[in-house]
Amino acid sequence: MAARLASVGYDVTIGSRAEDRAREACRALVARWPDRGLRLSGADNAAAAAADLVVMATPWDAAAATSSELAGTLAGKVGISMGNALVKIGPGELQPVLLARGSVAATVQAAAPDAYVAAAFHHLPAKELGELDQPVDCDVLVCSDHPFATSTTTELASKIPGVRVLDAGRLANAGTIESFVAVLISLNIRYKTHSAVRITGVEV
Ligand SMILES: NC(=O)c1ccc[n+]([C@@H]2O[C@H](COP(=O)([O-])OP(=O)(O)OC[C@H]3O[C@@H](n4cnc5c(N)ncnc54)[C@H](OP(=O)(O)O)[C@@H]3O)[C@@H](O)[C@H]2O)c1
Repeated sequence: MAARLASVGYDVTIGSRAEDRAREACRALVARWPDRGLRLSGADNAAAAAADLVVMATPWDAAAATSSELAGTLAGKVGISMGNALVKIGPGELQPVLLARGSVAATVQAAAPDAYVAAAFHHLPAKELGELDQPVDCDVLVCSDHPFATSTTTELASKIPGVRVLDAGRLANAGTIESFVAVLISLNIRYKTHSAVRITGVEV
């Protein structure tokens, strides 16, 4: 995600619990695409969360604690939650986890109540996202209780070649969007592919 956003012109700071890891991740990405002039830097999570817009991309079970720690910094800005709450049951089976607040995104919103949280990017396969020379064949479903967060997230995601962004309503829909990833991963395992989502019947 960091490389893709940098490839469409954003200044991206990768956050980490350990600044060195973030710097190393940036170094590896820049080394992979030396001619692209990717504007990537690494920082600890607090410094990364000082950005104008923050994408929360930790594992789902770390989203609440991470957002809570950063709640002061996230106040007044858009935070995009892309976590999917899934648990591995056995070989080839992942099940969605039903969270008390209904979704990872709603959990993040509760942990950082003064942020404008949107849920998005759940269905983008990381491999395709990281192939910067190719467009990404996927719709991004965005939901939020804040129109400003929906429009800001739409503007960001629309810059990714191939992506179509759809307003999927209020944050109450985030749980459905997140848990559908269990279906996509089942399809990936069954058909040995990287599936994504396209909604038909909507012209935008
Ligand atoms: N992979 C995909 O195709 C994909 C697609 C759509 C959405 N997502 C969602 O995006 C999120 C990130 O996915 P990913 O594949 O990048 O996951 P990941 O590699 O397992 O985790 C991303 C980063 O989160 C940090 N992290 C790990 N455990 C943590 C903890 N306990 N507390 C705080 N930070 C922690 C780690 O950074 P540091 O150790 O450096 O802090 C790690 O590099 C997940 O919620 C996933 O469901 C993934």
